Amino acid sequence: MKLSNRLEVILSFIKPCEVLFDVGADHGLLSIEAARRNLAKEVYAIENAKGPYDRLVQNIAKSGLKERVRAIYGSGLEIDDDRKKSVVIAGLGTDKIVDIVKKAYYLDSLDYLIVDSHTNLKTLREEVTKFNFYILDECVLQEAKIYYEIILFAKGNKRYDELDMSYGPINLKKRSDIFLKKLQERVDEIDHILVKIGDEDNKKSNALIEEKERILNIL
Ligand SMILES: C[S@@+](CC[C@H](N)C(=O)[O-])C[C@H]1O[C@@H](n2cnc3c(N)ncnc32)[C@H](O)[C@@H]1O
Repeated sequence: MKLSNRLEVILSFIKPCEVLFDVGADHGLLSIEAARRNLAKEVYAIENAKGPYDRLVQNIAKSGLKERVRAIYGSGLEIDDDRKKSVVIAGLGTDKIVDIVKKAYYLDSLDYLIVDSHTNLKTLREEVTKFNFYILDECVLQEAKIYYEIILFAKGNKRYDELDMSYGPINLKKRSDIFLKKLQERVDEIDHILVKIGDEDNKKSNALIEEKERILNIL
């Protein structure tokens, strides 16, 4: 089956591992493909909503990979497995991702964490790096006009400044066309908002002007 560009990028970020947790597995596309490509010996496809979970179970059965892909109904916190592992949390908002990371008993045995969030990337980077992770890779992509940011965190420490946290240290180094396009669109959006606000709200205007200057320095 042809996977979306977004799922392909996530798969490309998975280093071959013993165990992979796919939290928020939905119908299991990523979990099944990760096992099929031998990116993990064993995959836990974790889903906490009944409808998607039922489809997940059916899809795993159809895939012929039942021995290596296990469907779990829940959030993954109930799994007792202290082997070294990688975890993917994709398609959830930053608040949910951070909440899962904060509660995860398996942080000590976690080598790599791959996340895909469309909201509040700065908070995501700030919160996850508090748990002794650094940013090993990043990718910005666009599908059907929506921008997605995939981040690969690995165990270890690195110092990041405000700009790194806001836009991503690897994004800033790579300067991919999509990343720069996303920033340019934000500048256009800020210009539009500034015209609308006029001189009604100086505090908001000043914050937007500062943000625009920061972005223009990157571009
Ligand atoms: C938008 S889908 C993303 C599916 C897939 N990961 C992807 O990126 O294409 C999010 C899925 O995560 C599930 N989910 C949300 N919070 C969860 C949690 N704490 N534990 C397990 N699954 C969760 C939802 O029920 C939904 O099926």
